[in-house]
Amino acid sequence: MTRVLPHVAIDGPAASGKTTVGRSVARRLGFLYLDTGAMYRALAHLALRNEIDLDNQHALLRLLEQYPVRVELDAESASGYRVFAGERELGPELTSSEVTAAVSIVAAHPLVREKMVEQQRTIASRGPVVMAGRDIGSVVLPDAPFKVYLTASLPARVERRRAELQAKGIDVDVHRLAQELAERDALDQTRPTSPLRVAPGAVEIDSSSLSADDVTDEIVRRVKSAATA
Ligand code: DC
Repeated sequence: MTRVLPHVAIDGPAASGKTTVGRSVARRLGFLYLDTGAMYRALAHLALRNEIDLDNQHALLRLLEQYPVRVELDAESASGYRVFAGERELGPELTSSEVTAAVSIVAAHPLVREKMVEQQRTIASRGPVVMAGRDIGSVVLPDAPFKVYLTASLPARVERRRAELQAKGIDVDVHRLAQELAERDALDQTRPTSPLRVAPGAVEIDSSSLSADDVTDEIVRRVKSAATA
């Protein structure tokens, strides 16, 4: 019999609030947290640094053999996890605009996904975790007892991302930002392997007019009532 661990799967489009909400849901429930996008970002970073063609899946796999992308869940760290490529720990480079522009191309390769999913399932087998991404409820943890599809309108997501970047001192053109988010969503939703979609059994939450605290409260309440049902 498979042991059902209390996992929470959170999927949704770019900038829908998965990271902020996922981390605080994990803290409130005493679970660990993993943003799986960071693993694809780590590979995109490696590919750019080593001048590897983003469309060449086999070259990307060789790169992964040379510099394995590994994550360690760590409730004490700011993000909730640490990402390594080979021996090197990665940080701010994961969210650079170059990596953000490249990551959906890297993440579309089926064999790359196989490697990442294998590691994500191993991590989940060790204990309770909140995992955020695009295919968590549909592919990585289809038996997760609680699944959320977190979404928000494009203007709301653009505004959140703009505010986030501005807080880091980065000024952006909102029209360009909207175009980038829409392009990334389209690539993630239309790829043949594990496209972003609402997983069977997922609760859909539109956070366009909700604060991160409201969304966190809602998810924690639902997880707790599902656990006692
Ligand atoms: O959530 P994010 O923006 O950090 O994700 C970066 C990219 O990685 C995103 O464009 C889609 C991809 N991704 C994915 O395909 N599957 C996941 N489970 C997580 C992210």
